[in-house]
Amino acid sequence: VLTCDDDDLREVEQEIGCDCRERPVELWQRANLPPGRFDGLTLADLDWPRLEPPEMAITIQDYADHLEDWLAEGMGLVLYGHVGTGKTHTAIGLVKLACGMGIEARFLTMGELLESLKATYDRERGSRHRRGEVRTRDEAGLLGELAELPLLALDDLGTENPTPWARDRLYRLVNRRYLARLPTIVTTNLGPDKMVERVGDQTLSRLWGASLVIEFRGSDYRTRAKQATLRQLRSQNVRLLTLASSQNR
Ligand SMILES: Nc1ncnc2c1ncn2[C@@H]1O[C@H](COP(=O)(O)OP(=O)(O)OP(=O)(O)O)[C@@H](O)[C@H]1O
Ligand SMILES: [Mg+2]
Repeated sequence: VLTCDDDDLREVEQEIGCDCRERPVELWQRANLPPGRFDGLTLADLDWPRLEPPEMAITIQDYADHLEDWLAEGMGLVLYGHVGTGKTHTAIGLVKLACGMGIEARFLTMGELLESLKATYDRERGSRHRRGEVRTRDEAGLLGELAELPLLALDDLGTENPTPWARDRLYRLVNRRYLARLPTIVTTNLGPDKMVERVGDQTLSRLWGASLVIEFRGSDYRTRAKQATLRQLRSQNVRLLTLASSQNR
């Protein structure tokens, strides 16, 4: 998608005779995808045979293959499990896939979500002192925008400080999306018991009730990737031998 230039995209739009959907490049730019390690990575870059348990790979593949149908049903995903097992990679891959299909989607870590809500308070306070400043969205406006996105991925649920305020805003967002039958993808290290403690049973019920729930098992892919990098470096430079062999984790 990103290799298409404007003319290519215009041609495709004319050919399919439809301009009701936004263009993938613009959607991609607004999706808040994190720069860096996931650049250029898609679902296809997952090492599918390494996903554990194997049945969950089939579920994710089906979700991706029939994305529009699942989204139309308001069905999201709860991806939970060990660190480094591919939950965020999967969520980002699905957001990219949706954008490529012309469906608006946004990726937000829980930290980013709460920070951007808090920032609306600062802006509101600031705007009292600065005359002529264009008033930016208030908290309700931002929550409303996120509540109406066709697909929202919330990454790392449970890493945020579980203050009553944070729980309340998460509930409001999840509840509005649930009522509107809009799908949410959530990733978390918390299993069901810990998650209910952290977010409360009302939020959990709505997430669980409108999602395929998938547990990621398996080992930490980051360690595996590091070992592969060190092996490669070791083969290029003999001085790294000692360093590489001391890195067991
Ligand atoms: N099955 C896999 N195939 C290819 N790469 C993978 C796989 N699983 C994880 N990775 C890679 O390992 C790294 C960690 O994956 P990811 O960030 O998705 O893990 P996570 O489950 O979200 O971990 P955490 O719970 O710590 O947030 C990423 O660079 C990702 O691309
Ligand atoms: Mg993650």
